[in-house]
Amino acid sequence: MIGSRVLVAGASGDIGQALIRLLAPNCAKLGAHYCENRVPLDMFAEEAQLDQEHFALFGSDLSDQESCHRLVDSYAAWAGGIDALVQLTGTVTKPVPWEGLSEDEWNADLRVNLNGPFFLAQRAMAHMKVGGGRVVLASTASAQHGGGTNTLGYGVAKAGVECLVKCLARDGAPHGILVNAVAPGFIQTQFHTRRAQKNAAALKKRAELVPLKRAGLPEDVARLIEYLLSAGGNYITGECMAVSGGDWL
Ligand SMILES: NC(=O)c1ccc[n+]([C@@H]2O[C@H](COP(=O)([O-])OP(=O)(O)OC[C@H]3O[C@@H](n4cnc5c(N)ncnc54)[C@H](OP(=O)(O)O)[C@@H]3O)[C@@H](O)[C@H]2O)c1
Repeated sequence: MIGSRVLVAGASGDIGQALIRLLAPNCAKLGAHYCENRVPLDMFAEEAQLDQEHFALFGSDLSDQESCHRLVDSYAAWAGGIDALVQLTGTVTKPVPWEGLSEDEWNADLRVNLNGPFFLAQRAMAHMKVGGGRVVLASTASAQHGGGTNTLGYGVAKAGVECLVKCLARDGAPHGILVNAVAPGFIQTQFHTRRAQKNAAALKKRAELVPLKRAGLPEDVARLIEYLLSAGGNYITGECMAVSGGDWL
Protein backbone atom coordinates (compact mmCIF):
# COMPACT_ATOMS: atom_id res chain seq x y z
CA MET A 1 0.00 0.00 0.00
CA ILE A 2 1.23 3.50 -0.85
CA GLY A 3 1.43 5.23 2.50
CA SER A 4 -0.76 3.85 5.18
CA ARG A 5 -2.94 6.73 6.26
CA VAL A 6 -6.18 6.13 4.40
CA LEU A 7 -9.55 7.83 4.83
CA VAL A 8 -12.57 6.02 3.38
CA ALA A 9 -15.65 8.24 3.09
CA GLY A 10 -18.72 6.04 2.87
CA ALA A 11 -17.03 3.13 4.67
CA SER A 12 -20.38 2.11 6.18
CA GLY A 13 -21.77 1.23 2.73
CA ASP A 14 -21.41 -2.26 1.32
CA ILE A 15 -18.48 -1.46 -0.99
CA GLY A 16 -16.93 0.64 1.80
CA GLN A 17 -17.15 -2.27 4.26
CA ALA A 18 -15.54 -4.63 1.75
CA LEU A 19 -12.74 -2.10 1.24
CA ILE A 20 -11.91 -1.55 4.90
CA ARG A 21 -11.72 -5.33 5.38
CA LEU A 22 -9.07 -5.45 2.66
CA LEU A 23 -7.16 -2.37 3.84
CA ALA A 24 -7.20 -2.81 7.61
CA PRO A 25 -4.32 -5.34 7.88
CA ASN A 26 -1.93 -3.00 6.04
CA CYS A 27 -3.06 0.41 7.26
CA ALA A 28 -1.36 2.18 10.15
CA LYS A 29 -4.17 4.72 10.36
CA LEU A 30 -7.47 3.75 8.76
CA GLY A 31 -10.27 6.30 8.99
CA ALA A 32 -13.81 5.05 8.34
CA HIS A 33 -16.60 7.53 7.68
CA TYR A 34 -20.34 6.88 8.06
CA CYS A 35 -23.40 9.08 7.72
CA GLU A 36 -26.39 7.41 9.45
CA ASN A 37 -25.22 3.85 9.86
CA ARG A 38 -22.34 3.42 12.31
CA VAL A 39 -23.26 -0.11 13.40
CA PRO A 40 -21.37 -2.16 10.75
CA LEU A 41 -18.19 -0.23 11.45
CA ASP A 42 -18.40 -0.80 15.20
CA MET A 43 -19.02 -4.49 14.54
CA PHE A 44 -16.04 -4.70 12.20
CA ALA A 45 -13.73 -2.97 14.71
CA GLU A 46 -14.78 -5.45 17.38
CA GLU A 47 -14.53 -8.50 15.13
CA ALA A 48 -11.10 -7.51 13.74
CA GLN A 49 -9.95 -6.38 17.20
CA LEU A 50 -8.82 -2.99 15.93
CA ASP A 51 -7.79 -0.46 18.53
CA GLN A 52 -8.39 3.27 18.46
CA GLU A 53 -4.79 4.00 17.57
CA HIS A 54 -5.20 2.25 14.20
CA PHE A 55 -8.88 2.61 13.36
CA ALA A 56 -11.08 5.65 13.89
CA LEU A 57 -14.69 6.40 13.00
CA PHE A 58 -15.94 9.74 11.73
CA GLY A 59 -19.65 10.48 11.37
CA SER A 60 -21.14 13.25 9.22
CA ASP A 61 -23.42 14.19 6.37
CA LEU A 62 -21.18 15.21 3.45
CA SER A 63 -23.35 17.51 1.38
CA ASP A 64 -21.46 20.79 1.76
CA GLN A 65 -17.97 22.20 1.69
CA GLU A 66 -17.68 22.80 5.43
CA SER A 67 -18.58 19.25 6.46
CA CYS A 68 -16.28 17.73 3.82
CA HIS A 69 -13.34 19.90 4.85
CA ARG A 70 -14.03 19.18 8.51
CA LEU A 71 -13.94 15.43 7.91
CA VAL A 72 -10.61 15.54 6.07
CA ASP A 73 -9.07 17.89 8.65
CA SER A 74 -10.30 15.73 11.55
CA TYR A 75 -8.88 12.62 9.93
CA ALA A 76 -5.52 14.32 9.17
CA ALA A 77 -5.29 15.62 12.75
CA TRP A 78 -5.83 12.09 14.09
CA ALA A 79 -3.52 10.36 11.58
CA GLY A 80 -0.83 13.04 11.34
CA GLY A 81 -1.60 13.61 7.63
CA ILE A 82 -3.34 11.76 4.80
CA ASP A 83 -1.86 9.53 2.11
CA ALA A 84 -5.08 8.45 0.43
CA LEU A 85 -8.72 9.46 0.22
CA VAL A 86 -11.32 7.03 -1.08
CA GLN A 87 -14.81 8.45 -1.61
CA LEU A 88 -17.63 5.90 -1.68
CA THR A 89 -20.50 8.09 -0.53
CA GLY A 90 -23.57 8.22 -2.73
CA THR A 91 -27.33 8.17 -2.71
CA VAL A 92 -30.44 8.77 -4.77
CA THR A 93 -32.63 11.37 -3.14
CA LYS A 94 -35.89 10.36 -4.78
CA PRO A 95 -36.04 7.54 -7.36
CA VAL A 96 -38.71 8.92 -9.70
CA PRO A 97 -38.77 9.76 -13.42
CA TRP A 98 -36.90 12.98 -14.11
CA GLU A 99 -40.12 14.71 -15.28
CA GLY A 100 -41.28 14.82 -11.66
CA LEU A 101 -38.10 15.96 -9.90
CA SER A 102 -38.28 19.24 -7.99
CA GLU A 103 -35.40 21.72 -7.90
CA ASP A 104 -34.69 20.81 -4.26
CA GLU A 105 -34.49 17.07 -5.08
CA TRP A 106 -32.26 17.73 -8.09
CA ASN A 107 -29.94 19.90 -5.98
CA ALA A 108 -29.88 17.32 -3.19
CA ASP A 109 -28.59 14.68 -5.65
CA LEU A 110 -25.87 17.03 -6.86
CA ARG A 111 -24.87 18.00 -3.31
CA VAL A 112 -24.20 14.45 -2.13
CA ASN A 113 -22.93 12.92 -5.38
CA LEU A 114 -20.94 15.76 -6.92
CA ASN A 115 -20.31 18.57 -4.40
CA GLY A 116 -19.31 16.12 -1.66
CA PRO A 117 -16.66 14.29 -3.72
CA PHE A 118 -15.28 17.60 -5.00
CA PHE A 119 -14.95 19.25 -1.59
CA LEU A 120 -13.46 16.09 -0.06
CA ALA A 121 -10.85 15.89 -2.83
CA GLN A 122 -10.21 19.63 -2.63
CA ARG A 123 -9.23 19.43 1.03
CA ALA A 124 -7.40 16.11 0.81
CA MET A 125 -5.25 17.40 -2.06
CA ALA A 126 -4.36 20.51 -0.06
CA HIS A 127 -2.97 18.21 2.65
CA MET A 128 -1.20 16.02 0.05
CA LYS A 129 0.67 18.86 -1.66
CA VAL A 130 3.65 18.02 0.49
CA GLY A 131 4.45 14.33 0.04
CA GLY A 132 1.89 13.37 -2.64
CA GLY A 133 -0.99 10.95 -2.30
CA ARG A 134 -3.85 9.10 -3.95
CA VAL A 135 -7.49 10.03 -4.46
CA VAL A 136 -10.09 7.54 -5.67
CA LEU A 137 -13.62 8.78 -6.32
CA ALA A 138 -16.78 6.80 -7.13
CA SER A 139 -18.54 7.27 -10.45
CA THR A 140 -20.98 4.83 -12.04
CA ALA A 141 -20.75 2.95 -15.32
CA SER A 142 -24.15 4.35 -16.31
CA ALA A 143 -22.79 7.93 -16.28
CA GLN A 144 -21.39 7.28 -19.76
CA HIS A 145 -24.80 6.14 -21.02
CA GLY A 146 -27.17 8.89 -19.96
CA GLY A 147 -27.80 7.64 -16.42
CA GLY A 148 -31.15 6.12 -15.45
CA THR A 149 -34.61 7.59 -16.03
CA ASN A 150 -35.37 7.39 -12.29
CA THR A 151 -31.89 8.47 -11.16
CA LEU A 152 -30.92 11.22 -13.58
CA GLY A 153 -29.61 13.72 -11.02
CA TYR A 154 -27.38 10.98 -9.63
CA GLY A 155 -26.09 10.06 -13.12
CA VAL A 156 -25.38 13.68 -14.01
CA ALA A 157 -23.48 14.14 -10.75
CA LYS A 158 -21.38 11.04 -11.44
CA ALA A 159 -20.59 12.28 -14.97
CA GLY A 160 -19.36 15.44 -13.22
CA VAL A 161 -17.12 13.31 -11.00
CA GLU A 162 -15.43 11.95 -14.13
CA CYS A 163 -14.69 15.52 -15.27
CA LEU A 164 -13.35 16.34 -11.80
CA VAL A 165 -10.98 13.38 -11.96
CA LYS A 166 -9.35 14.62 -15.16
CA CYS A 167 -8.78 18.17 -13.92
CA LEU A 168 -7.62 17.13 -10.45
CA ALA A 169 -5.28 14.48 -11.90
CA ARG A 170 -3.69 17.03 -14.24
CA ASP A 171 -3.23 19.59 -11.48
CA GLY A 172 -2.22 17.02 -8.85
CA ALA A 173 0.48 15.38 -10.99
CA PRO A 174 3.26 17.92 -10.28
CA HIS A 175 2.69 17.27 -6.56
CA GLY A 176 2.73 13.48 -6.89
CA ILE A 177 -1.01 13.25 -6.29
CA LEU A 178 -2.71 10.58 -8.43
CA VAL A 179 -6.45 10.92 -8.94
CA ASN A 180 -8.72 8.24 -10.42
CA ALA A 181 -12.31 7.04 -10.30
CA VAL A 182 -13.90 3.63 -10.25
CA ALA A 183 -17.15 3.19 -12.14
CA PRO A 184 -19.10 0.25 -10.71
CA GLY A 185 -21.72 -1.38 -12.90
CA PHE A 186 -24.52 -3.32 -11.20
CA ILE A 187 -23.11 -4.28 -7.80
CA GLN A 188 -25.14 -6.25 -5.29
CA THR A 189 -25.46 -3.77 -2.42
CA GLN A 190 -28.10 -2.03 -0.34
CA PHE A 191 -27.74 0.90 -2.74
CA HIS A 192 -30.34 -0.71 -5.00
CA THR A 193 -32.77 -1.76 -2.27
CA ARG A 194 -32.42 0.97 0.38
CA ARG A 195 -31.68 3.97 -1.88
CA ALA A 196 -32.89 3.27 -5.44
CA GLN A 197 -35.79 1.17 -4.03
CA LYS A 198 -35.67 -1.67 -6.55
CA ASN A 199 -37.49 -4.94 -5.77
CA ALA A 200 -36.16 -8.52 -6.09
CA ALA A 201 -37.68 -9.06 -9.54
CA ALA A 202 -36.10 -5.86 -10.89
CA LEU A 203 -32.71 -6.85 -9.43
CA LYS A 204 -32.88 -10.31 -11.05
CA LYS A 205 -33.82 -8.83 -14.41
CA ARG A 206 -31.01 -6.30 -14.19
CA ALA A 207 -28.40 -8.98 -13.40
CA GLU A 208 -29.47 -10.96 -16.47
CA LEU A 209 -28.51 -8.00 -18.68
CA VAL A 210 -24.88 -8.21 -17.56
CA PRO A 211 -22.70 -10.27 -19.96
CA LEU A 212 -21.13 -12.12 -17.00
CA LYS A 213 -24.71 -12.96 -15.94
CA ARG A 214 -24.42 -11.86 -12.34
CA ALA A 215 -24.38 -8.74 -10.23
CA GLY A 216 -20.93 -7.67 -9.09
CA LEU A 217 -19.89 -8.20 -5.49
CA PRO A 218 -18.72 -5.33 -3.26
CA GLU A 219 -15.31 -7.08 -3.15
CA ASP A 220 -15.04 -6.85 -6.96
CA VAL A 221 -14.94 -3.05 -6.64
CA ALA A 222 -12.92 -2.99 -3.43
CA ARG A 223 -10.11 -5.02 -5.03
CA LEU A 224 -9.71 -2.50 -7.85
CA ILE A 225 -9.53 0.35 -5.34
CA GLU A 226 -6.95 -1.57 -3.32
CA TYR A 227 -4.94 -1.98 -6.53
CA LEU A 228 -5.10 1.74 -7.28
CA LEU A 229 -3.74 2.43 -3.79
CA SER A 230 -0.93 -0.12 -4.23
CA ALA A 231 2.32 0.03 -6.20
CA GLY A 232 0.28 -1.32 -9.12
CA GLY A 233 -1.28 2.12 -9.39
CA ASN A 234 2.02 4.03 -9.50
CA TYR A 235 1.58 5.09 -13.15
CA ILE A 236 -2.21 5.43 -13.32
CA THR A 237 -3.87 8.82 -13.02
CA GLY A 238 -6.82 10.61 -14.59
CA GLU A 239 -8.63 7.34 -15.33
CA CYS A 240 -12.16 6.22 -14.69
CA MET A 241 -12.15 2.42 -14.51
CA ALA A 242 -15.31 0.40 -14.94
CA VAL A 243 -15.96 -2.70 -12.82
CA SER A 244 -19.07 -3.89 -14.55
CA GLY A 245 -18.83 -7.50 -15.75
CA GLY A 246 -18.97 -6.24 -19.32
CA ASP A 247 -22.18 -4.27 -18.77
CA TRP A 248 -23.18 -2.00 -21.67
CA LEU A 249 -21.09 -3.97 -24.20
N1 LIG B 1 -23.95 -0.58 -5.92
C1 LIG B 1 -23.87 -0.25 -7.20
O1 LIG B 1 -24.39 -0.95 -8.09
C2 LIG B 1 -23.17 1.02 -7.61
C3 LIG B 1 -23.12 1.29 -8.98
C4 LIG B 1 -22.47 2.44 -9.41
C5 LIG B 1 -21.90 3.28 -8.50
N2 LIG B 1 -21.95 3.01 -7.15
C6 LIG B 1 -21.33 3.98 -6.24
O2 LIG B 1 -20.40 3.31 -5.40
C7 LIG B 1 -20.37 3.99 -4.12
C8 LIG B 1 -20.64 2.98 -3.00
O3 LIG B 1 -21.92 2.39 -3.26
P1 LIG B 1 -22.56 1.21 -2.39
O4 LIG B 1 -23.21 0.30 -3.34
O5 LIG B 1 -21.59 0.70 -1.39
O6 LIG B 1 -23.71 2.03 -1.66
P2 LIG B 1 -24.30 1.99 -0.17
O7 LIG B 1 -24.08 0.64 0.43
O8 LIG B 1 -25.68 2.51 -0.28
O9 LIG B 1 -23.36 3.04 0.60
C9 LIG B 1 -23.49 4.41 0.39
C10 LIG B 1 -22.59 5.16 1.35
O10 LIG B 1 -22.82 6.57 1.20
C11 LIG B 1 -23.07 7.15 2.49
N3 LIG B 1 -23.93 8.32 2.33
C12 LIG B 1 -25.17 8.38 1.77
N4 LIG B 1 -25.64 9.64 1.83
C13 LIG B 1 -24.69 10.38 2.44
C14 LIG B 1 -24.58 11.75 2.82
N5 LIG B 1 -25.57 12.63 2.58
N6 LIG B 1 -23.45 12.17 3.43
C15 LIG B 1 -22.45 11.29 3.70
N7 LIG B 1 -22.48 10.00 3.37
C16 LIG B 1 -23.60 9.53 2.76
C17 LIG B 1 -23.71 6.02 3.28
O11 LIG B 1 -23.61 6.27 4.68
P3 LIG B 1 -24.64 5.58 5.77
O12 LIG B 1 -25.02 4.24 5.24
O13 LIG B 1 -23.82 5.54 7.03
O14 LIG B 1 -25.82 6.49 5.89
C18 LIG B 1 -22.88 4.84 2.82
O15 LIG B 1 -21.65 4.81 3.54
C19 LIG B 1 -21.40 5.11 -4.19
O16 LIG B 1 -20.77 6.31 -4.56
C20 LIG B 1 -22.33 4.65 -5.31
O17 LIG B 1 -22.94 5.75 -5.94
C21 LIG B 1 -22.59 1.88 -6.68
